[in-house]
Amino acid sequence: MACYEGGSFGGGINPWLERLGKLRNVVRQELVARQLARHLPPSPATVLDVGAGQGTQAVRLAQRGDRVVAIEPDREMRAAFRETLSGLSAETMARVSLVDGALGELADATRGDTFDVVCCQGVLMYLDDPAPAIAELVATVAPGGLLSLVARNADGMALRPGLRGDWQGVQRMLDAAQHDRRYPNEIGVEARADRVDEIASLVRSHGLEVEAWYGVRVLTDGVDAETPVPNDPAELAALLDAEDRVGRTDPYRRVGTLFHLIARRSGRVG
Ligand SMILES: C[S@@+](CC[C@H](N)C(=O)[O-])C[C@H]1O[C@@H](n2cnc3c(N)ncnc32)[C@H](O)[C@@H]1O
Repeated sequence: MACYEGGSFGGGINPWLERLGKLRNVVRQELVARQLARHLPPSPATVLDVGAGQGTQAVRLAQRGDRVVAIEPDREMRAAFRETLSGLSAETMARVSLVDGALGELADATRGDTFDVVCCQGVLMYLDDPAPAIAELVATVAPGGLLSLVARNADGMALRPGLRGDWQGVQRMLDAAQHDRRYPNEIGVEARADRVDEIASLVRSHGLEVEAWYGVRVLTDGVDAETPVPNDPAELAALLDAEDRVGRTDPYRRVGTLFHLIARRSGRVG
């Protein structure tokens, strides 16, 4: 494949899949879903999810009634996605097409189609350069359509070691934020952080308007990767509400571990 080739994400697959139900991932997925929901067109919309992974967001959108094309280059991740699909209603399953493909050759997988909603969440950090990926993604956004990008936030890199009392880690992350922005992430993969303003400029340079951006996981970023969700559903709900609110409140959103940028192409949907 043009730019994946087993991918820099390769070594992270097992830890990623094993921790899907843990607090860190639950906060991330729930926040991304809530943030996106504020901008979605009425269902049924057409959705492209690039680097869909295990399919958490793609499945939520299919359950809403949207028609989803999910692109995922990794065989194991596609298998995890198919396993999730197999537990869903036949109606929901029928709304999802899972396709082997990758950034670098996206047009092969989409065959030139455009979509009301294009998601690329948690993928840019595994690419050396976000610019070509954003150009490819923008080309798939229909008139009036949305682009949802979730990336590692270079402005929040020192937060996690700081919350954990790892003072040398804070210094390393601040150095990385000033230099190449590369860092070892929680699933043991070398990744790269972006700045929201730079990604916003790239998106605007292709004619899209930035509609909003959010921080994702601020308050709970220090918890250990194996921390489970609280047993008490009311406590989890309160935690998610708190994360959701700081994720759209300055200055807190600035230092979220991820940022979620939502942009729109002008024109009428459908
Ligand atoms: C951290 S997972 C995110 C999965 C999902 N989008 C989510 O947010 O839950 C990163 C995914 O990006 C995929 N990926 C890595 N490089 C890619 C590329 N060049 N094109 C498309 N997907 C890629 C990986 O295979 C993996 O499934």
